[in-house]
Amino acid sequence: MARKPFIAGNWKMNMTVATGTQLIKDLAPLVADANCDVALCVPAILIPAMTEAAKGTNIAIGAENVHWAASGAYTGEVSTAMLKDYGVQYVIIGHSERRQYFGETDETVNKRVLTALAAGLTPIMCIGETLSQREAGETEAVITKQLDIDLQGVEDVTKIVIAYEPVWAIGTGRTATDEQAEETIAFIRSRIAEMYCPKCAEKIIIQYGGSMNAGNCKGLMAQPDIDGGLIGGASLKLDFAKIVNWDK
Ligand code: PGA
Repeated sequence: MARKPFIAGNWKMNMTVATGTQLIKDLAPLVADANCDVALCVPAILIPAMTEAAKGTNIAIGAENVHWAASGAYTGEVSTAMLKDYGVQYVIIGHSERRQYFGETDETVNKRVLTALAAGLTPIMCIGETLSQREAGETEAVITKQLDIDLQGVEDVTKIVIAYEPVWAIGTGRTATDEQAEETIAFIRSRIAEMYCPKCAEKIIIQYGGSMNAGNCKGLMAQPDIDGGLIGGASLKLDFAKIVNWDK
């Protein structure tokens, strides 16, 4: 079963209405013939303007986080209904920066994932090990634990996109080698087969993320288990189009 590749940008806390609109305008013709699904996940406050800018293009606008409650006293948070108001389909959940700086745990990742799925959104669920965990040989144990907790209660795992992002590769310019990325992503796929079913593992989209750029995307995308990328820094410039067009 062929999986359709999926390249998503993660703008993090970057861009404004003016710079974001310009970038989308410039990117749109460059990615129009992509052979993959294309999305840009943007800060919540930019979603209305970027949705407008991306109208009529093949760029989907996604969010960078979502809360698990339907509404209520959660100052600073955004609900699924607010995202759906703007036609958002994708939402990043459990990014390592949320885990590192904002107290995100596997338990809260799980709550967000379940709420997003119930609302018909597609979570881009991020998992990955730190450098010390990799060096201690704990990568597979860390990933196993993250998958166990993050996916608790998820019935159809194929409605989720998993982004494998080794924390040591994010924003550091230190990409995982093609082999390291493939090895861990193949491991994730085998865990999904065990937790769910081989067909589910065959179907689920798993991205690589962490300093993926125009130079290294070809090698990563050539790996049999890597279905796409979650792109931080390189999604803030026209290089994003080169990644989207890695196969051309
Ligand atoms: P990076 O970020 O491409 O800048 O390393 C990736 C991510 O954090 O999703």
